[in-house]
Amino acid sequence: MSEGIFSDFDAVARALWGHHDVKLRHRLHERSLFSDAALGRILDAIPPGQMAINTMGRTGHDVRSWSYCERGDMSGEELIKAVNAGRIWINVTKANEIVPEFGALLSEMFGEIEANVPDLDVIRKSMGLLISSPNAQVFYHADVPGQSLWQIRGEKRIYIYPNREPFLRPADLENIIRGRTEEEVPYHAWFDRHAAVHDLAPGDMLHWPLNGPHRVENKDCLNISITTEHWTPEIRRHFGVQYGNGILRSAGLAPRSASVHGAAAYAKCALAVGWRLSGQQKRQSFRRTMKYRLDSREPGYLVPIGGALQAGE
Ligand SMILES: [Fe+2]
Repeated sequence: MSEGIFSDFDAVARALWGHHDVKLRHRLHERSLFSDAALGRILDAIPPGQMAINTMGRTGHDVRSWSYCERGDMSGEELIKAVNAGRIWINVTKANEIVPEFGALLSEMFGEIEANVPDLDVIRKSMGLLISSPNAQVFYHADVPGQSLWQIRGEKRIYIYPNREPFLRPADLENIIRGRTEEEVPYHAWFDRHAAVHDLAPGDMLHWPLNGPHRVENKDCLNISITTEHWTPEIRRHFGVQYGNGILRSAGLAPRSASVHGAAAYAKCALAVGWRLSGQQKRQSFRRTMKYRLDSREPGYLVPIGGALQAGE
């Protein structure tokens, strides 16, 4: 029987969970599941739709340089080599549904979290596997469900910003929740003065308040990380209310409240459900465009599709 996931989940972490950044120590990095050979085999088994491959500019915060790439015919092992040498960010989404070991690990992780935070009622959860290049970055964005980042190999810095104005405007959050933009929100360099900055090494885990905007900078080393997402009844209600507020705002009615309690909150959730059932969600959703194809014969491993410029140029 292996040791538990956490080594320091204490009363302070329990009190902070969901309300404030919580940094804990975990033992996932001690498991053989994350060696190059094991990850290569895992990547070979991932269907194309469940792997997002991105590249981005070398320096600065140019969100337009965030570009999607096709995998081409690269094996899992070649992909890891390309990540090591290039400027690539691979996100295997819902890895727990594809790789049975990850499914079991996710249950173990949340089993321990829920045992430590008794009020937490997780009704849905998923796990993403991140394999990313030395010095790669992810620009300022906000995510919809509860988020945690678990560092396995390499080191990175994450900036967490307050989940309220001016760092996150209600209309921007509503657009993310409705899938009308891809998680990005307006960013200014001065926001950094109000960020909590966390350096993550193997064995560190960070959980932060719902929808807290964040951005990530890898240190000069290959990074292997896990992200977990979770939903509770309250997060689902928050989603419904924001979704309903977004529909009202797009109809010219400025919503006055984002409360998840009371009759108005339930009416907004019902509005959101109706909207999604009507097919409006699909019609208005953001769509991804592939700009590069990965190719092991190319320096930087990227070939532009249809004359796209190299990222960072
Ligand atoms: Fe994120």
